[in-house]
Amino acid sequence: MVERIAVIGTGYVGLVSGTCFAEMGHQVVCVDRDENKIVRLQQADIPIYEPGLQELVAANMQSGHLSFTSNLVEAVKVSDIIIIAVGTPTLDNGDVDMSQVRSVIAGMAPHLTATKIIVMKSTVPVGTGRWVEKQTRELAPQHAHIHVVSNPEFLREGSAIHDTFHPDRIVIGSEHAESGARIAAIHAPIRTELLMTDRESAELIKYASNAFLAAKISFINEMAHVCEKVGADVGFVAKGMGLDRRIGPHFLNAGIGYGGSCFPKDTRAQLKIAQNVDYDFKILRSVIEVNQLQRERFVNKIHRTLGDLEGKRIAVMGLAFKPNTDDLRDAPALDIIAALQKLGANISAYDPAAAVHASKLLTNVSLHINPYDALQNADAMVIATEWEAIRQLNYNLVRSMIKQPVIIDGRNMFEPKEMSKLGFTYISIGRTA
Ligand code: UGA
Repeated sequence: MVERIAVIGTGYVGLVSGTCFAEMGHQVVCVDRDENKIVRLQQADIPIYEPGLQELVAANMQSGHLSFTSNLVEAVKVSDIIIIAVGTPTLDNGDVDMSQVRSVIAGMAPHLTATKIIVMKSTVPVGTGRWVEKQTRELAPQHAHIHVVSNPEFLREGSAIHDTFHPDRIVIGSEHAESGARIAAIHAPIRTELLMTDRESAELIKYASNAFLAAKISFINEMAHVCEKVGADVGFVAKGMGLDRRIGPHFLNAGIGYGGSCFPKDTRAQLKIAQNVDYDFKILRSVIEVNQLQRERFVNKIHRTLGDLEGKRIAVMGLAFKPNTDDLRDAPALDIIAALQKLGANISAYDPAAAVHASKLLTNVSLHINPYDALQNADAMVIATEWEAIRQLNYNLVRSMIKQPVIIDGRNMFEPKEMSKLGFTYISIGRTA
């Protein structure tokens, strides 16, 4: 059945899921309070870097399945399903900032008529669904029937469209069977495991999943330090662990730790959510601490390798928190650059997608979208994001360009033996060359 859906918030999650629901045949209107963004979106001009999204937005606008507006009230009036996908950042005290969710509820609730299903897609603390339902029912006209369903999003930036159409699972938390079934039905073309739960469990599944994945990363990063001390190779250790199906091979790449708009925020939020109910989530506390330390230890490694950094020019290759995105939120590269600058280093940096945005966040860094420009006259090369373009560089040329043939790789992109054959001093994470 074709549903009329309003998606509120056109960030990664909102824009991608709205577009994908339109592609599945539904009638979707995406709403954002930022009028400039809406004007751009109405011309299929996508404010984020996400492979394949521009084409999908344009096609669905053309077919009439997808439209954009800044008029929240009109959008919810013409829709039966309202998906909330606004930002839920962390406040300074660690609590989740729910002001955007609150303002959406206040703005739309008085205009809700007939039966409306509100779907919480934003990552929100457990209990939010219950609260949103109560609040909306209070503000909505008497005759409206409101049901709130939790439907957390598990997509990754950079592969968001693929993840939406091929998820490992769809989780729907509902206290109202019919509403839950209707939200399950809008995903009909997707073939995957469907998990129907109570609302609280669905809300927790999202945090628990991100916290667990973050824990896998911090665990392997700790193992990497042990490997360095005993002369083992963390790549083999991760491979051997990952072959155990109970562990699995994913998220065991040692490096400079996780960044982005989700893991750092969600791990901190989950820690605070536990604290608020008087529970000290010890593992999570360590996961967060190890992730922060990982950046500092990498800077120490660069320092140890290159000696005094005063006046040295370091080419930092990759700025985004991971490849295939221009997202710099909580990107390890930013902290690493700031620390290197503090030690007196001059930085030139390369990123194929994030260099332009980086100019707003970095000072005294020469930014490049051509990797060789960043490497010109550098003393050494540091890898912070594993972009394919970095793998594809001509390393004979790189060696001739940088003053010392030193590569310090925070993402374990290369085989140490291969790099030393090419004449580099190659330092990576958890492996002795
Ligand atoms: C993450 C989750 O993977 C998604 O399932 C979730 O929906 C999303 O957060 C969210 O909460 O919205 P994302 O932030 O796009 O997605 O990025 P990931 O691909 O998960 O990578 C996160 C970070 O972990 C990156 O900085 C990456 O470099 C790092 N990482 C990942 C490692 O250091 N090692 C690994 O083995 C894997």
